[in-house]
Formats: sequence, structure tokens, C-alpha cells
Amino acid sequence: MSRAAFAGTGFYVPDRVVTNGDLARLMDTSDDWIVERTGIRERRWVPEGMSGAEMARRASEMALRSAGMSAGDLDAIILATLSPDHFFPGTGVFLQRELGLEGIPALDVRAQCSGFVYGLSVADAWIRAGQYRTVLLVGVEIQSTGLDVSTRGRDMAVLFGDGAGAAVLTASDEAYRGVLSTHLHADGRFAEVLWGEFSSSKHHPRITPEIMTAGRHYPSMEGREVFKHAVSRMPEVVEEALHANGLTPDDISLLIPHQANLRITEMVRRRLGLPEDRVVNNIDRYGNTTAATIPIALSEAVHEGRLHRGDLVCMVAFGSGFTWGSALLRW
Ligand code: COA
Repeated sequence: MSRAAFAGTGFYVPDRVVTNGDLARLMDTSDDWIVERTGIRERRWVPEGMSGAEMARRASEMALRSAGMSAGDLDAIILATLSPDHFFPGTGVFLQRELGLEGIPALDVRAQCSGFVYGLSVADAWIRAGQYRTVLLVGVEIQSTGLDVSTRGRDMAVLFGDGAGAAVLTASDEAYRGVLSTHLHADGRFAEVLWGEFSSSKHHPRITPEIMTAGRHYPSMEGREVFKHAVSRMPEVVEEALHANGLTPDDISLLIPHQANLRITEMVRRRLGLPEDRVVNNIDRYGNTTAATIPIALSEAVHEGRLHRGDLVCMVAFGSGFTWGSALLRW
């Protein structure tokens, strides 16, 4: 049976660098606090008017180039985001248009920080079923336009950045290459622990000046609760994947964790007993770019030459929902 293998990867981040010092001029925070609690030093924010579809296109073009393919080779698009350019239609169709394609399906995935791993699971299933052979999988996020950059919103505003990462997945018949398994989970009991409450189709009108004055259109989070769950669920779902494939943490060549907080990644790394050089960290430069985080980190690792044919790669994510999941693959 064919399974999904990575043929090419790419990423795009906006040129505009926002340092912790820049944020300290907008709100009561400091470089020391942010670095010590999160490991973040700077992040990228979009310039006015740049869309998620445009960032996704730039990342996709790099992925297609690195795969030696053109957009016309694609059979389907999966795009993961929690910050679509518009309420509807999904950003996937805007990306399709940006790539100059028409006719092939474009599916948006709404699984927040776990969106890329969820999307990979769908792409792998499509490929295994023989429905499509070449799938473009993209994670893209614009967080900056939705953050409260006053002291009221400082717990969230310092964490998030903008960016896009993409991968071209193709059907592989090689026994020693491709996705071995994906393990996905969710627990909606915690939906409001990290969420964007408004605008909401549950209410008529969906948003009001009073809601905006109260700041309820900004995302909100109980940081400690998220932290507590992330440090348990992430190693658990890696162990679940390893166990299902008869492997151990020692077999992992590279762990690509969702970058939510350097302290979370460190706790996951220690629990799995992995050395530092087998875990990807780029949160210091980009912050948390939600669904874009894993494909950006993957693409950087590939283009830095950190991955070799046959390496065992593990991706693991945790985020709003709660949703979490892992993917294990042979490079
Ligand atoms: N700058 C300065 N102080 C800040 C701040 C900021 N940006 N944000 C919050 N604080 C303050 C709080 O108001 C609080 O002050 P108080 O003690 O006077 O009430 C103090 O710092 C400690 O806040 P707390 O929330 O307990 O800090 P923490 O050690 O839990 O760190 C997070 C906060 C958000 C960094 C941490 O909880 C975290 O990373 N959680 C996971 C978040 C995450 O990963 N989200 C995305 C998941 S995909």
C-alpha cells in the first residue's frame, strides 16, 4: 500500500521582526519576563494587508520548488489555520486561486495548533486509499491582527507570531519511507480554556461595540491550565505512536514539537529522555505560529540538512480544543 511521503517543504515568514523590546513599549512586560517564561525573543508580524493566502502561496511555492514539481502536479490542497482570512470560504480556496489552479479540492482544517498533524493524517489517509497521489499540506497563521497589544492582553500577545509552512506529500511505495502512523486526540471539555469567543454565530448580532469594549473579541487563555495539559499530553501521544510501531524514544532521529513555550518543549524532551540536538527549537525567532509552527520547523530542519533518508521523524502538537496528536514517519 502507498503512503504519504514528504517530497518537498517550504516556509514563509513576514519581514517585519517584532522584538520583546518592541512589545515592552506597547504594554507592561519585559524582555526578561518573556525570555524566562517562554524562550521567545522575537516574532514576525504581517505588514498591513498581507493575507494568509499570500503567505501560504509563498511557502507552497518553496515546497513545490524543493520537490521539483509545479502547482499543476497537485491533486488536492489541505490548509490548516485557526485564523482564516475570512469567516468563509476557507483560506484553502484563496490559496488555490493564488497558485493559479482550479478544479482540485481545497479542504480547510480547524484543529488549531494541531492542525498540521491532523491535516497530515487526512492527507496520508487519502493517499493510502488511492484517492489522491500528490497533496499540498499547508499550515498558515496570522495571529498579530487579532491580539490585544495592551497590558490587558499581555499574557497572549507576547506568545504568538505569523507565518506559513508547507509540504508536498506524494504516494510512496518504498517500505522504508513515509508516514508510519498518526495518532489524533481531542477533549472538548477544555474548549474555553484557550479560545476566541467572538465574533460568534451563536449570537445575533455576532459582535457588538460592548463586546469589543470588554475585549471579548480577543483570544483568551488560562495559561497554567494549558501548560499543565501540554506537558502530559505531548509525551503521552509520542509514546503512543512509538508503542504502536514497536519503537522507543532512542529510535527518534528528530522530534519536531509544536513550539508553544520553550519550557514545555524542554519538559517533553526530558520526559522522553532525548538529547537536545534531537529536538527542533525555533520559538526564540518566531514565537508560537499555531498551525504553521510544525511545517516551518520541519522546513528549516530540512533546509539546514538535519534530515537524512531513513531517519525516524516524530511530530507532536498540542493546542486549543484541546486537540493533540503525533505523526511518526521515515524520512
Ligand atoms: N509580561 C509580564 N508579566 C506577565 C505577562 C507578560 N507578558 N503575562 C502575564 N504576566 C503576569 C501575570 O499577570 C501574573 O502576575 P500576578 O502574579 O501579579 O498575577 C504573573 O505574570 C504570572 O502569571 P502566570 O500566568 O502564572 O505565569 P506563568 O508562569 O504561568 O507563565 C505563560 C504564563 C502564558 C507563559 C504560561 O502559562 C504558558 O506558557 N502557558 C502555556 C501557553 C501556551 O502554550 N499556549 C498555547 C498553546 S498551543
